[in-house]
Amino acid sequence: MKVFATKVIPDNAKAFLSANNIVVDEWTNQTPITKNELTKIVTSGKYTGLFVLGAKIDAEIIHAIQRNIQVISLLSVGYDNIDLHAATMAGIPVSNTPDVLNDATAETAFLLMQNVARKAFYNYRRIMEDKWHNDSFITNLGVDLQGKTLGIFGLGKIGLVMGKLCRAAFNMEVIYHNRSRNPKADKTLNAQFVSFDELLHRSDVLSIHCALTPETTRVFNAAVFKKMKNSSILINTARGKVVDEPALIQALQKAEIWGAGLDVTDPEPMQPDNPLLQMATVAVLPHIGSATVNTRHRMAQLAAENMLLGLTGKRLKTIVNEEVYSIKK
Ligand code: GLV
Repeated sequence: MKVFATKVIPDNAKAFLSANNIVVDEWTNQTPITKNELTKIVTSGKYTGLFVLGAKIDAEIIHAIQRNIQVISLLSVGYDNIDLHAATMAGIPVSNTPDVLNDATAETAFLLMQNVARKAFYNYRRIMEDKWHNDSFITNLGVDLQGKTLGIFGLGKIGLVMGKLCRAAFNMEVIYHNRSRNPKADKTLNAQFVSFDELLHRSDVLSIHCALTPETTRVFNAAVFKKMKNSSILINTARGKVVDEPALIQALQKAEIWGAGLDVTDPEPMQPDNPLLQMATVAVLPHIGSATVNTRHRMAQLAAENMLLGLTGKRLKTIVNEEVYSIKK
């Protein structure tokens, strides 16, 4: 049996599948696979499974590949890049990689928070520009995090780790806004469930950890930034489209908020001339939330297990379209 991966995947996944007589072919080009290339390859009749890393899988692709592909295994926790309804209607089970990346992603949010608070990337750039001595005792200062209020938008498992890190390191108070309360956060973090407006008004650091859905798309917009503290820092390690990026640029330029740390942007990749990259109180990373050796290894293992289960007609371990099992192909 053969499966196709839209990027190179870790060796452990290939070894696991190889031991089960499944061969993985990969897209090895530096440039991301296009829709046409993907459709052509996957409809060649050689492949029965598809690993998806980042690529957008829309209804058109699903329709094209449905005769060949029995399972789609995503190497990400987010699944906003796939038309899940189309996959379900086509009878294709789809899995993601939850939990195994909680720590790495929360650590990235924490890293960005500290980075922005002390203008770390900006100060690094100053050294490179031979401007080490350019500041006086009272200019180019950062902000303290000790005892501040962390607001979490979308407190799930990743947000919970971010809350724990911030409490442990800086004794931060944790408030959050979700569709429903998170009893674990209430108990372990003594977190307070608040309205969206209260979250905006009270957060010193506001960290986004929600999924991208129609309801969360560009929820952080111009009107929202006006309600945040002028001294606040926005952190986004979820999805770029949760934030209206032009509105964020304006809010920073008008000093409506103090800073921003982004591991995700809209679009991705961010263009090198984006004004955010020049701002002293902004730190941007190229979507590396889960990019540690161990985390990627664990994501690959889980994705490979899902692939094997799917190809042998079994229920996927971490399925995201459960209803596929009640629909006949
Ligand atoms: C990364 O962004 C993921 O969804 O795993």
